[in-house]
Parts: sequence; C-alpha cells; structure tokens
Amino acid sequence: MNKLKVTETSLRDGHQSLIATRLSTDEILPILTEMDNAGFHALEVWGGATFDACLRFLNEDPWDRLRKIRANVKNTKLQMLSRGQNLLGYRNYADDIVEKFLQKAIYNGIDIVRVFDALNDFRNLKKSIEVIKKEGAHCQCAIAYTISPVHTIEYYLQLIKEFEDEGADSICIKDMSGILLPYEAYKLIKAIKEITNLPIELHNHCTSGIAEMTLLKSIEAGVDIVDTAISPLSSGTSQPCTESLTLTLQDNERDPELNISCLNKIANYFKPIVNKYIESGLLSPKVLMTEPKTLFYQIPGGMLSNLINQMKTLNAFDKYDEVIKEIPKIREELGYPPLVTPMSQMIGAQAVFNVISNERYETIPTEIKKYVKGLYGKTAAPISDEIKRKIIGDDEIITVRPADLIEMEYDKIFQEILDLAKSEEDVLSYALFPKVAKDYFLKR
Ligand code: CO
Repeated sequence: MNKLKVTETSLRDGHQSLIATRLSTDEILPILTEMDNAGFHALEVWGGATFDACLRFLNEDPWDRLRKIRANVKNTKLQMLSRGQNLLGYRNYADDIVEKFLQKAIYNGIDIVRVFDALNDFRNLKKSIEVIKKEGAHCQCAIAYTISPVHTIEYYLQLIKEFEDEGADSICIKDMSGILLPYEAYKLIKAIKEITNLPIELHNHCTSGIAEMTLLKSIEAGVDIVDTAISPLSSGTSQPCTESLTLTLQDNERDPELNISCLNKIANYFKPIVNKYIESGLLSPKVLMTEPKTLFYQIPGGMLSNLINQMKTLNAFDKYDEVIKEIPKIREELGYPPLVTPMSQMIGAQAVFNVISNERYETIPTEIKKYVKGLYGKTAAPISDEIKRKIIGDDEIITVRPADLIEMEYDKIFQEILDLAKSEEDVLSYALFPKVAKDYFLKR
C-alpha cells in the first residue's frame, strides 16, 4: 500500500474550529518554513471564515495573506475550501463571479481547490469544476457527509460517479459534524475504491469523540489522504492531532513519514499563541469537550452552541430540548438536507420558530421558502405536497441549475465599488462580503 498523505488544517479549519478564525497573518508567517519542510501533502490555508475574519476582525486583506503564505511555502501545495456556487460567501453568485474568483485564487497561490455543495447537488459545482480545471489547479470534489434513510452508500457512489465524469481529480469525504462512524467509514471507503481510482481524502472533526477511530479504520480501508491539525489546534471541534497520527503509523506500511522534529517545532510555536486565546476567553473550554450527543441528533457542535445562544436570547431556554427534537422532524419534512452552512442555520431557525409559535410552520424564514422553491438546488429526497403548500403555497418550483437564473453581475459590482477598489481582487472581496469589504477599504 502507498504512503499516507497528510493535509495540515491548522491555518484554516484548525483555528476556525477552536479560536473563531482569529490567527493573524503575523502569527502565521514565522512558522511557515517549518510547516513547508514537515512533509505535508498540502496546507489548508483559505476558506469562507478565514476570508471573512481577515476583513471583519483582523483588518487584513485575505488576498495579501495568501500571497505572503505562497511566498514562504515553496514545496507544499496550498489548499482552499469553496462552497461551490456560493464560493466563500452566503448566496449563489453568478457564473462570472465564480469564474473570476477562482481564477484569482489560483493565480495568487492556491494549488488545490476543495469544492462542495451543501445539498450535494452536483450542478452547483459544475462551473467551479470547469474553471479550476481550465486554470490548471487540482479540483477536489467533496461529498457533504450526512446520515439519513436516503443517504446510503449507493447515494454517495452515484454522486462520486458524477464528480468523476465532470473531471474531479480527487474525492473528499467531508464529515463536518464528526458523525462518520469508524466501521461505516471503512465500508464507504472500500465501496468507493471499487468504483474509482481517484485519490480519496477524509476530512472529519473530533466533536463527538470518534474521529481518531474513524481515521484509523479509513487508513485500513485504503484512504489516500487525511486531514489533521497540529496538537495545539487539534481535537475538540477541530481535526485529529497530526503528531499522534504520525506516531501511530511509525514503521507501518502507511507511515506518512512526516518530520517529527518539524512537527514539534510547529507545536511549540502555536502553544503560547493558543494559550493567549485561552486566557482572553476566545477559546472556550466547551469546544474542547467531547459531545457524543452529536451522534444521537446528528447536529454539528457549532449548530448546538448557536442554538443555545439563540434560545437564551429569546428567553426560551426551557424549550431547548423541544428544539433539538424538532430538528430531525424538519429535516425529514424538507428532504434530509445535510446540516452544513447555510442549511444548518436555516433548519435551526425554523426549528426555533416551530417550537415557540402556536403552530408549526406558522413563521417561515425567507431562506427556507427559497430552499423549498429549489433555489438552493435539488433536495436529496422529495418534499411532500402538503409541506410544500404550507411553505410556498402555489408558487412554482424551479428545476434548472439555480445559477442559470442569475444574470452576470461582475460589471455591476465593479461599478459600485470603483472608487474604493484598488484591484480586481478588491472587487471580488466586495462581491462576496459587500459591507465588511467596504468598511475595510475605508479603514486601510
Ligand atoms: Co471542517
């Protein structure tokens, strides 16, 4: 069997999961040479929250961060996460924005783009795949892993076939909630290996306490690449620990042969930084605690803590348990969407409304209506006529690729921000995060 490859996530998911994505570029730069020499397959460095937090909280240009990282990382591939037609933002963008954004991301240093769609509607990835391939980057297509009666192994295999036909260079199983059980992972990876020769990467989270076991079973099943984070930014709601995995596999046929002395230096570098965030309260001990409830309810850790806050704000914390029980019901009624951004927030909001109103679906957020109308894409299971009528009345449901309904918008957005934008990258920051980008331009 071939050597296991490791993608280090500290600079994206690691700090996003534990310290609200607050690592600054100044905190990242001094350790990059060490990270570059450790033998990683890739460093994950860019994604929605990293981009947003740069502009919103750190007064930094995310493009500038990417260029600086690239200048310091000579041997290792740089990877980003993109939400298909939503890119790094919160809505569907027109095809011209998707094209220009991915072109610029690759031009500024990204080698591997991991793309996924919250509904696993592969039409929402078509444009991204086309552009990534055209620009000569590596296109990794991810399945958003969830559990439901319709999310069978056959369902995932079908999706992977679609990815492969469209030109994917590798496949990722993205278990954002940390609910992929060890023996399920083994079965799934074995089954995928039967139908494709594309490399398979596993991305999971330690939230529920099973991630390391799942990692090991996945390695036994022949997974090609795994995502881990250096110890100070690992575990809890983040990824399994890089050093522990390396030591587990020492002298094994799958030994990733990472440089242990580099790993120790990286860990020693991040430890005091993470300690600083523990002292400031930014890193809450709660995110480090194992939450097996995630496995019972299949609700991601982040969504649970959001719900707790929402219920407290509404002075309705006594109804928290009812809300938790309402979520699986809504999921079933709405065709089993995976609970990942933005679906997790939308389903959470609907559950709160259903519990605090007199009648279920008395209040319905606009985004849920859009979802039922098909504007986010195709649902994994059909929604019953009764629920459809309750939510959108007699409105029509679209069956085309949602972005087909969006007119090209780059020129219009460019005109809006002409005075403040200094580059095409600025225009794209503004396209994705209009208010925060504008505020940042005014401050710089
Ligand atoms: Co993740």
